[in-house]
Amino acid sequence: MASPLGGIEMFNIKTAAVAAAALVASAGVAGAEKIEVTHWWTSGGEAAAVGVFADAVNASGHEWVDGAIAGGGNARPVILSRIAGGDPMGATQLNTGRDAEDLVQAGLMTDLTDLAEAEGWADFIRPSKLLDSCTYEGRIYCVPVNIHSFQWMWLNRGAYATAGVAVPTNWSEFEAAAPALRDAGITPLAVGGEAWQISGMSGVFQVALGGLDLYRAINVDKSPEAAASADMTKVFEAIAAARSMVDDGYVGRAWNDATAMVITGKAGAQIMGDWAQGEFGVAGQTAGDEYDCLPGLGVYPVLDTGGDAFYFPKPTKNADAMTAAQLEMASLLVSKQVQVDFNLAKGSLPIRGDIDLSAANDCMQKGLAILENPDNVLPSSEQAFTGDTQGQFEDLWVSFFNDPSISVEDAQARYVEIVASAD
Ligand code: GAL
Repeated sequence: MASPLGGIEMFNIKTAAVAAAALVASAGVAGAEKIEVTHWWTSGGEAAAVGVFADAVNASGHEWVDGAIAGGGNARPVILSRIAGGDPMGATQLNTGRDAEDLVQAGLMTDLTDLAEAEGWADFIRPSKLLDSCTYEGRIYCVPVNIHSFQWMWLNRGAYATAGVAVPTNWSEFEAAAPALRDAGITPLAVGGEAWQISGMSGVFQVALGGLDLYRAINVDKSPEAAASADMTKVFEAIAAARSMVDDGYVGRAWNDATAMVITGKAGAQIMGDWAQGEFGVAGQTAGDEYDCLPGLGVYPVLDTGGDAFYFPKPTKNADAMTAAQLEMASLLVSKQVQVDFNLAKGSLPIRGDIDLSAANDCMQKGLAILENPDNVLPSSEQAFTGDTQGQFEDLWVSFFNDPSISVEDAQARYVEIVASAD
């Protein structure tokens, strides 16, 4: 999946770096810098993708000092507290959204606006809401690098063939096929027990079972009435039903280990963001051959604009030279060739619509087609809610999934409270 950086690609990267260097050199500073970069991309597919970024930064003359921290739930608080505590890294991945809102408002992030305007980011970054999520009081403080949607199901075609049933094309067919998989000794649904995984699944059910209006009413309007609706009850019932489709070993399982169950045929399917594609890629599997993908669980062709952005905390030493290096790195991450190579490896959609993605596989092509229709593009929960509110949702969903003694009614009542007080 990942195209190794060949001669032409390296030439393009150097061109981008030269352009950015020209901009920063005009500020009177330049030179090679060691840039410590924090992120949580540690699975096989994620590592392949982050390697594209690292290669590009190293090819520009700076040095990428890798600061990987496994698991978003672990990495995010470490990253945010380091910046707040005056021990900033040179650059960091976070989710596109409200992760770093407080730090931006406290003036702790490098302003990228002059670079963004010089390079015309507003002209090629789409949807424009991605850049809105990086903008505070008219200034830009992060650079979106991809679009990752949680609204996907990944299915192992061979598992369904072994079970003697057709590969499902929607959630109800998936539920109907589950007993046949069980009889064949195959776990119908692969799940990892991390709270964000269960919470993410609920967002997929919101669309597939409640429709786009329900999702928007909750994730845009923060409507307690929508949270209390009968449509939302269906989501709780689906999460409860999913308990009987997973294996006993799900607790604490990392998302990519659940993906590996689908890749190896131990499980039929997984509801997970399209970062799962990176795992199929490094496993040498091809969309449409070994695996299939259902955007919106095959019910609605939707995607949400989850994904990642890079922030550049204001340096506490060697400020001029490090800031210059940060700007050069930001320019590289949105450059055309790096966007193609990174997103093909990551399984995400690029943030720019003016590049050649003919190499994208069937599933990415489905995502690109959905992206063309703004009516089917939804905000992610990271864009909608603060980290604190998301944490409350995650705690509720994982508790409900793990404890069948919690009634749908009680869980939904708590959900309504969280939505009603969401900021
Ligand atoms: C998400 C992130 C993705 C992905 C995933 C699993 O928050 O946006 O890039 O890697 O976590 O680690």
